[in-house]
Amino acid sequence: MSEAIKPIDGDLKDINIFDPELMKCPHALYKKLRDESPVYQDPATGIFQVSKLELICEAARNPKVFSNDFGALQKDGGSDDYPQEAADIMMKEGYPSVNTMLTADPPRHTRYRSLVNKAFSPKLVQGMVPAIQRKTNDIIDKFIHTGKCDVAVDIAQQLPIKVIAEALGVSSDYYEDFKVWSKAFTDQLSGTSTPEEHIEIAKKLVKFQQFFANQLDEKGKNPADDIISDLATIDFEDEHGVTRKLETAEQLSIIQQLLVAGNATTAHSITEAIKLLIEHPEQMELVVNDHSLIPNMIEESLRLLTPTNNMWRIVTEDTELGGVSIPKGSSLLLRYGSGNRDEEVFENPDTFDVTRKNSKRHVAFGQGIHVCVGMNLSRKEMYTAFPIIIDRLKNMRFAEGNDFNYSPNVLLRGLDSLHIEFDKA
Ligand code: HEM
Repeated sequence: MSEAIKPIDGDLKDINIFDPELMKCPHALYKKLRDESPVYQDPATGIFQVSKLELICEAARNPKVFSNDFGALQKDGGSDDYPQEAADIMMKEGYPSVNTMLTADPPRHTRYRSLVNKAFSPKLVQGMVPAIQRKTNDIIDKFIHTGKCDVAVDIAQQLPIKVIAEALGVSSDYYEDFKVWSKAFTDQLSGTSTPEEHIEIAKKLVKFQQFFANQLDEKGKNPADDIISDLATIDFEDEHGVTRKLETAEQLSIIQQLLVAGNATTAHSITEAIKLLIEHPEQMELVVNDHSLIPNMIEESLRLLTPTNNMWRIVTEDTELGGVSIPKGSSLLLRYGSGNRDEEVFENPDTFDVTRKNSKRHVAFGQGIHVCVGMNLSRKEMYTAFPIIIDRLKNMRFAEGNDFNYSPNVLLRGLDSLHIEFDKA
């Protein structure tokens, strides 16, 4: 078993499904939801929960009825206490927030999405392999002589930030800033921030916007072969059929999503894969002896962790899903993390099995028109980094001091620290 999953007793309606403790390990709740009410309206919040794989896919493939126009929910994780001061900071010092990919519906979504698709085509991503290999080796060189590291901090958070920085065309000297901004966006999504924390987050987001607005300006004047230059110079046909340059707010929205959506998620996946391998020495041995199992091992880790554990939808018309009526205007959570442990699809769903035949049927990258635009890149990063990690960090084992604490977050799931030891090189 990947985690000891104790069933939850009692009535669903008596459970606070947004209890931070439950968010840390939601699998027992998910099982109860799947067993008892796969489309469940939480009485306390009114939010519908979709927990079976087939129903999640049905909703995700129907963007007309299950809309991604959830920008307002995303800002404060759905809480009512988003402070006016944070909104004022963003309004006065920053750029307005606009819906581009994640929070846009067709036809608007289609236009932005096709712009970004080009940057992450399989061919372009394949071209990044030598850089990913080099970066992975450089990252490991820094600590390998010590025989220990924090996987999350020393490897997993570094690689995706360095790779996306290069693709955007920004020097990795700004690594620490990227990390701070990326975390600010993730915290904003947590649904657990206090009003004071929201104000601090807003200050960081304004810094992010100002930094990238400058980069866009400079690259508009001196374009190079990178994503920021493309965003600065491209002719864009908007949903009204007008061809124009992108506005700064649109450019920033796209950059923000590339930075946020890819960093914590890929970092959490790398960390979880190492944790699962250490917890299951027999699976580690299989992968160490046969590197061709690495891609499936990654898919299996993605399935079990599901870094984007949940995603919002807004219902645009009275509808029905899984026999349950859902009124227009309802908010809904697609529980991707639950669908990925659906026992009707995955045999022994809580078991980590690097040889599982259908691991890749997971929906960790979503489904339908919003399916992750960075999935080629993320997979390539992990498929490329893992053979190097496994070859160089021999006999990986847990060090003292791990609390295995998954921070509570309505949307995202993963460890921000994992201390390990390995044989010194
Ligand atoms: C393991 C790593 C990743 C996971 C688990 C993940 C997960 C997801 C999921 C579940 C969605 C769909 C959201 C929805 O249903 O509305 C999504 C969308 C998205 N992802 Fe990822 N992602 C990962 C890596 C990346 C990377 C590396 C990038 C960028 C470089 C990225 C950029 C995006 C963007 C921009 C969207 C919005 C796409 C749209 O709405 O059309 N993601 N991701």
